[in-house]
Amino acid sequence: APLTQDELKALVGLAALEYVVPGEIVGVGTGSTVNKFIEALATIKDRIRGAVSSSVASTERLRALGIEVFDSNEVDELSVYIDGADEIDGRGFMIKGGGAALTREKIVAAQSRRFICIADASKRVEVLGAFPLPVEVIPMAARRVMHQFEKLGGIAQVREREGLPLVTDNGQHIVDVTGLKIVDPLAFESEISQWPGVVTVGVFAHQKADVCLLGMPTGVQTLKF
Ligand code: A5P
Repeated sequence: APLTQDELKALVGLAALEYVVPGEIVGVGTGSTVNKFIEALATIKDRIRGAVSSSVASTERLRALGIEVFDSNEVDELSVYIDGADEIDGRGFMIKGGGAALTREKIVAAQSRRFICIADASKRVEVLGAFPLPVEVIPMAARRVMHQFEKLGGIAQVREREGLPLVTDNGQHIVDVTGLKIVDPLAFESEISQWPGVVTVGVFAHQKADVCLLGMPTGVQTLKF
C-alpha cells in the first residue's frame, strides 16, 4: 500500500537524524512533522547535549522525552535547525507559521548555520502563496495590517480559536492572508517586515532552507539549495 501522509512525515523525521551533530545542541522546530523528528531524536538523546526549541509545544514534548531544552540566549550559534514548512519552493524559500510558531522559528533559524526542512511532498510548490500566509502582529495593528494586505490583493483575517483571537506564545495575534502570489519572496519579506506592528511575516526567504528532505511515495528525496 502507498505510504500515508503520516508515514511520509515519520520517514523524513527519521531521515533528519543524519543531520544532527553528536555532542551538540540541535535547533528544533514545531509541527506534526517535527513531532516525528522529536520521537526519533529521543532514541539518540544520549548522543546530543540538548535542544533549542521554537515553541512551548515542542519544548514540552522534548522535555517529556528527557531531552534538555536550552534558552536561545544561552547558546551562540547552532549547527543545524530542523523544522517543517507549510510550503517550500524550488529555491528553498518557505511559508511557515501554520502552527502559529513562526516568530520563534525564525529566531532559531537565524541563529543556526543550516536549515534542514522536513516535509511531505504536498508542501512542494512552484510559487508561494496558495497556503494562507501567517503574519504575527501586535493586536493593536491587526486592522491596519489586514487593510494593507487587501491593497495588495489579499484577503486577510485574524486567526481564531474557540471564537476568540488566537494568542501566540509571544502574546500576539496571527493574521492569515489568502490570495497572494509571492513571486519575489526576498523583497516581499523585507517589505512586510517593515510594516508597523508586524512582528514576523511567515515568508522564510532570508532564513531559507539549505536542504529539504521531501517525503515522496518512493522514499526520501533530498533537495539542496
Ligand atoms: C509552525 O508554525 C509551522 O511553521 C510548521 O513548521 C508548519 O506548519 C508545518 O507543520 P506540519 O509539519 O504539521 O505540516
